[in-house]
Amino acid sequence: MSSTSIKTVIPAAGLGTRFLPATKAMPKEMLPVVDKPAIQYVVEEAVAAGSDDVLVIVGRNKNALANHFDRVTELEHTLERKGDAEKLAKVMEASNLADIHFVRQGDPLGLGHAVLRARKHVGNETFAVLLGDDLIDSRDVLLSRMIEVSRDRSATVVALMAVEPSQIHLYGCAAVDETDETDVVKVKYLVEKPSAADAPSNLAIIGRYVLKPEIFDVLERTLPGKGGEIQLTDALEALADDESIAGPVLGVVFRGRRYDTGDRLDYLKTGVQFALDRDDLRGDLAAWIKELAAHL
Ligand code: G1P
Repeated sequence: MSSTSIKTVIPAAGLGTRFLPATKAMPKEMLPVVDKPAIQYVVEEAVAAGSDDVLVIVGRNKNALANHFDRVTELEHTLERKGDAEKLAKVMEASNLADIHFVRQGDPLGLGHAVLRARKHVGNETFAVLLGDDLIDSRDVLLSRMIEVSRDRSATVVALMAVEPSQIHLYGCAAVDETDETDVVKVKYLVEKPSAADAPSNLAIIGRYVLKPEIFDVLERTLPGKGGEIQLTDALEALADDESIAGPVLGVVFRGRRYDTGDRLDYLKTGVQFALDRDDLRGDLAAWIKELAAHL
């Protein structure tokens, strides 16, 4: 194992109610963005940052996720017989990415509760948490920088991004101080989904975290917060409030390209954006969009 290799946890046990009925029998992380399920981009991001062990926290529809990252020998043999190397590579991509494990969340009691389910697998090591609602452009650096900052400063690290004040109520929000590095801030305190009027800043936590194992004890004693759920933000706030527990909480401020797949409109926009970035689709899609826009 390389010195940069840390375990990754991907919570994927949400009910996905915003996408019903598509998510009736399938986790929302399996919804395709162009031709890949959203979660595969997230696993690829973890692997690109040097993580080779991924734990997915699953809910009631575990099978689609587990099957996606498993081998499908029948399909592989058929494509092999046909000599279709390109499609064969696509089929095998997901199963060759990393060592992928699954654990069930049981009751959906919140993001903090989901992360706590990773305790046994993670053990006493720093680990990354990646949420599938946010996709980070693979051309922009975020996770590897967070891991570096966590190592260098022995810190818990969250990814922060400036959002419109009208949007801050959708996110965990951080009050921060500057540090000597332009992309790193010190988190003074955190509030989960504040109203625009109560928000201490416009810096939102986007779904990337590098956490130290001390978070587990804190999560064990975190009471249900916003929405009656055990919030990861509240556990992080406890760490920011008392540095003697696990050192400082820092934020890496991301200024790159982030795509939201959390609701239907953002999901549709993300799909179009990803397709426009693809050589095989850009030309025809752009022409069609122009034609469509002319008639709107
Ligand atoms: C979760 C977190 C929130 C964070 C967001 C990022 O909220 O609770 O702090 O800002 O993810 O996507 P959710 O979007 O699951 O409601």
